[in-house]
Amino acid sequence: MKKILLTGVTGQVGRELQKTLVPLGEIVSVTRQDIDLTKPELIRSAIAELKPDIIINAAAYTAVDKAETEPKLATAINGVAPTIFAESAQKLGATLVHISTDYVFNGQNYTPYTEEDRPNPLGVYGKSKLMGEEGVRNNCDRHLILRTAWVYGSRGHGNFVKTMLRLGAEREQLRIVADQIGSPTWSYDIATTITQLVSKSVTGTYNFSSSGVASWYDFAVAIFSEAKQLDFPLKIKQIIPITTAEYPTPAQRPAYSVLSKVKITQTLGNYPPHWQKSLKQMLSEWRSIIS
Ligand SMILES: NC(=O)c1ccc[n+]([C@@H]2O[C@H](COP(=O)([O-])OP(=O)(O)OC[C@H]3O[C@@H](n4cnc5c(N)ncnc54)[C@H](OP(=O)(O)O)[C@@H]3O)[C@@H](O)[C@H]2O)c1
Repeated sequence: MKKILLTGVTGQVGRELQKTLVPLGEIVSVTRQDIDLTKPELIRSAIAELKPDIIINAAAYTAVDKAETEPKLATAINGVAPTIFAESAQKLGATLVHISTDYVFNGQNYTPYTEEDRPNPLGVYGKSKLMGEEGVRNNCDRHLILRTAWVYGSRGHGNFVKTMLRLGAEREQLRIVADQIGSPTWSYDIATTITQLVSKSVTGTYNFSSSGVASWYDFAVAIFSEAKQLDFPLKIKQIIPITTAEYPTPAQRPAYSVLSKVKITQTLGNYPPHWQKSLKQMLSEWRSIIS
């Protein structure tokens, strides 16, 4: 039976991986309390002791705006720690699975980003994630890097869907950015995709996000439309589309964040689920969790 070391189990993707990975082996789940990713020596000693066959790193520093004022911390968790995982995995001959982001790109494309497109991150978070990708690629032969985007889920930390439901219950009107385009992606879909890739021993760099594209405004409209049908408590009456310039944030975000699904579709033999279908499933799951 394979031993799988899984980090980030309190996060959106890690929580789902804890369930989807079960058929693949014995899962050793670790939290920040078990292995703090800012402490390289702890990562090294834990891996040397556990001797996993597969390491899945679902932990990350994900506060995109806060990263602008905490570059050292973001770099330690997103850049240095994955490199240590890679060196340790290589010593054991283990496989390292690492999750990355659309934010490694600058968002100036007009067509979906392929695995071969040149990364050029806009902010500290994207730069730290790119450093992690390179650390994994350069130090571990058996690596799988899955880049994903616009993640939401019912379990783990907060996200755009939960924020919309909270604000929509308090306010009648919301102003939402309509000139950033991406593909909202359910954490459960990411976890099942990673599980399929690991079960097929796939290695390399892959992009994965839901099929279809949306702006944050489109996403918000869809969230409220589905949430109304599921009887979520809502006051919201009007959603106003605004520009990025009207909603300044500390970190600059890519305007076009769509990832190409060609390679992953060819590898797995099926298209990623459409974002609207997955949103519906996540909202009904969330409705049953909170009621
Ligand atoms: N969220 C998105 O929209 C998005 C988009 C593209 C790619 N991604 C990537 O997808 C992956 C999963 O993201 P997610 O949304 O599931 O993240 P998340 O919900 O923010 O969870 C992050 C996880 O990392 C852990 N962590 C943070 N700092 C740590 C440290 N110093 N030591 C150990 N563990 C630490 C957190 O533990 P605590 O609970 O203790 O904080 C949590 O379990 C990440 O690689 C992220 O970069 C995310």
